[in-house]
Amino acid sequence: ILVEQFNNKKLAAEAAVTYIKSGMTVGLGSGSTVNWMLKKIGELVQDGLTIKGIPSSIKTETLAREYGIPLTDFSNVTTIDLAIDGADEIDDQLNLLKGGGGSLVREKIVDAMASELIIIADQSKIVSQLGAFSLPVEIVPFGFELTARNIAELGGVPTLRKKDNRVFVSDNGNYILDCKFDNIQNPKRLHEKLKLLVGVVETGLFVGMTDKLIVARNGKIETLVN
Ligand code: A5P
Repeated sequence: ILVEQFNNKKLAAEAAVTYIKSGMTVGLGSGSTVNWMLKKIGELVQDGLTIKGIPSSIKTETLAREYGIPLTDFSNVTTIDLAIDGADEIDDQLNLLKGGGGSLVREKIVDAMASELIIIADQSKIVSQLGAFSLPVEIVPFGFELTARNIAELGGVPTLRKKDNRVFVSDNGNYILDCKFDNIQNPKRLHEKLKLLVGVVETGLFVGMTDKLIVARNGKIETLVN
C-alpha cells in the first residue's frame, strides 16, 4: 500500500507566504507551523524580497536571524501590514486559542497591531468549540496562587506550567497557568472576565482578530476569509 504523507503545516505556511510583498512590515508568529514560514521567507529574502519582520517570541527572533530575515521593532514602526501566526485551536468563527508554546502576550501585541492577520494551521487545529486544549493564561509571578484560585472561581482548573521540572517562565518573565474549562461557550466573555482579574497579564483567547485562515488538509489548501 502506498501511503502518501503530507506536511500540512509546511503547506499552509508556504501558501501564506505568497501574500507577503516587498516593502511590507510583517508580524512573525510563533510555533512549529510558523517555523516553516520563516524558512520560506528566508529563501525569498535571499532571492531579493525586501521586508522587515517583527518577531513575536525570542525563539522566532533567533530563527528569523538564522534565516537572514531583516528585523525591526516597535521603536521604528507604527504599522504592521500583515501578521502570520499559528494557533492551537480554531473555531468556526475563526476565534483562536493560542499560547501552547508560551508566546501569547507578544503574539497578541503583534497580531492585534497588524492590518491583516492570517492564521496558518493543519486540519488538527479545527474544532467546533474552543477549550479541549487547556487555555494558557499569562500571569504575574507575585501571588500566583491567589490568581489561580480566582481563575478556579470562574470555572477553570488551572495548572502552573512547568518545563523540565521547573516553573516555566515566559519571554516576559511571567508564569503561565494552563486552565482547563469544560468548554468555552463564549470566548469573548471568558477572556474579558479573566482579564479583569488582578495579576492576569493576557489570555490565549484571540477573539475576532483573524482575517484569513489558511488550513491544509491531506495536502490541499483551504482558505477562509472572515
Ligand atoms: C505559541 O505560543 C502558540 O500560540 C502557537 O501559535 C501555537 O502553539 C501553534 O503552534 P504549532 O504551529 O507548533 O502547532
